[in-house]
Amino acid sequence: MKILCLSDLHLQMNDVFDAIHRQRFTPFLQNIRDLVEDTMPDVIAVTGDTVPTSFVSSLNAFFSSLFSTECPVVATLGNHEFWDRPFEKTLEAVGNQNTDAPNIHILDADPAVEINGYNFVGGCLFFDGSMRYRENDDLLPWNGWQDWRILDIETRYKEFNTFYVERIKKAMKPNMPNILCTHHLPHIALNGHEPNHYSYYSGMKDLVSQLPFDDTFPNALICGHTHKRVIGEVVPGFYCVNVGSDYGVLMHYLLEL
Ligand SMILES: [Fe+2]
Repeated sequence: MKILCLSDLHLQMNDVFDAIHRQRFTPFLQNIRDLVEDTMPDVIAVTGDTVPTSFVSSLNAFFSSLFSTECPVVATLGNHEFWDRPFEKTLEAVGNQNTDAPNIHILDADPAVEINGYNFVGGCLFFDGSMRYRENDDLLPWNGWQDWRILDIETRYKEFNTFYVERIKKAMKPNMPNILCTHHLPHIALNGHEPNHYSYYSGMKDLVSQLPFDDTFPNALICGHTHKRVIGEVVPGFYCVNVGSDYGVLMHYLLEL
């Protein structure tokens, strides 16, 4: 099983529009197409912060156009896709794709999909404050971080996190490997940054130990968000991938299980 891991593409509105409606691709997007052709993955995982908010209902259309292949795509939203509207409106939008695409699986709409004996499970996830870097660290001040754009996040971020944790727990499958795909970190070991105030917004200190993984299978953790590359068994017993793409800098990892 070869999984091509991509994350944090942070695409511009016009570039996404041109890809969907004109089949025209920027050099950055063409590099992604070439990467798929070169690596011939069995699954493409795209873990969030991909498109502007207004394209959340067009993710099927966008991925279909970009990848132009029958290869299964497993995707999550990122925090950027939640900007400028209420949490529930984004979930509604992601569940109402304007194009059918049976090979594209957006985990925020449907939290698990089984592909070749592997259960891909996850979603954006969100943070719960457990990655605070010192005891009295708090959500505020945002210190330049832009997630204040997500409506009600200051009073509801733990609720957003709990929503994802509960549905991931329910979507885990026994007797097979589970590949947890999230945008925010499922474990602090995937952070890649020195501890600082931004760790607060990065994810969860340890979601992994709350989930019923069967360690006789090759389980994996795939995430993004921090723009720092972390690859390897940084959480014991798990293949871990945080590809570490930065704005305009395309990184990838081909995870072979
Ligand atoms: Fe992010």
